[in-house]
Amino acid sequence: MDHCVDPIKVAAWQAERRRRGERIGFVPTMGALHAGHLALVQEARRRCDRVVVSIFVNPLQFNNPEDLARYPRQPEADAGLLRTAGCDLLFTPEAEGIFRDHRPREYDLGGLDLHWEGPDRPGHFQGVVNVVERLFHYVRPDMAFFGEKDRQQLTIIRHVARSLHWPEDIVACPTQREADGLAMSSRNQRLDPADRARAPLLYQALQAVARAAFRSTVDQARQAGLDVLASDPAIRPDHLGIAHPATLAPIDGWDGLQEAVVLVAARVGPVRLIDNLVLQRDGPGGDTFAARHPRHPHDH
Ligand code: PAF
Repeated sequence: MDHCVDPIKVAAWQAERRRRGERIGFVPTMGALHAGHLALVQEARRRCDRVVVSIFVNPLQFNNPEDLARYPRQPEADAGLLRTAGCDLLFTPEAEGIFRDHRPREYDLGGLDLHWEGPDRPGHFQGVVNVVERLFHYVRPDMAFFGEKDRQQLTIIRHVARSLHWPEDIVACPTQREADGLAMSSRNQRLDPADRARAPLLYQALQAVARAAFRSTVDQARQAGLDVLASDPAIRPDHLGIAHPATLAPIDGWDGLQEAVVLVAARVGPVRLIDNLVLQRDGPGGDTFAARHPRHPHDH
């Protein structure tokens, strides 16, 4: 596995591979890698000739300096995991390198940031899109792989890529879950044992919504999820809501929809976690884990 810090060297590395006609897959990350990231690397391996992974804890997307300072960092362990996973190039830029000659730009996010994480984290998605554009600029991937756990991020990146005619294919990969359903996240490392034990309630809340979706009103389905979260007062929800799958705007009825999305964000102790699930009118839910681990007759 090659390793570059300098974006110019990454540009030279990819240009050489592209000259040979190789397809480049890219997995942008902030490190503290887990099986969810490795699944993205695996998918990139499957679909491309070369795989580039970046690790960069992007200051532009943190609106809380403490959150940025506490974000887990484990560069040696990450490099070991990526070597085994078959990454060809690890790119670990410094802020001054990646943002050299860059003026942060205000992107048109098509209103996709108006709800959920948007109001809770002002400037977050602009920070994400700015860094993704910089990373794409140097890596020039054919395909870039993003997890569905960050559904709003994925939807926004897809929207910007389409509207600005970015050439990269944005590939969505399913959320990876622990055996108890907790969505894998680098932030899970910061949960103490008691909080780790209660964190799967987020997924259970999403499942409660999925059981009620399309059978009762949107309000009733949402309330079913809120009731699950309320069963543990140590969980403090920021939001739990049901959205249109394309616009991510909150919905108040199921009319005409075959699918919707339920999104949740909650503080579990000092750690803020997010998760989501696709709700399908006649299906098991767009979540492969739910289909494999039915908790209710309607889930299978
Ligand atoms: O999903 C993440 O880890 C980050 O938001 C990303 C896409 C690497 C941009 O910093």
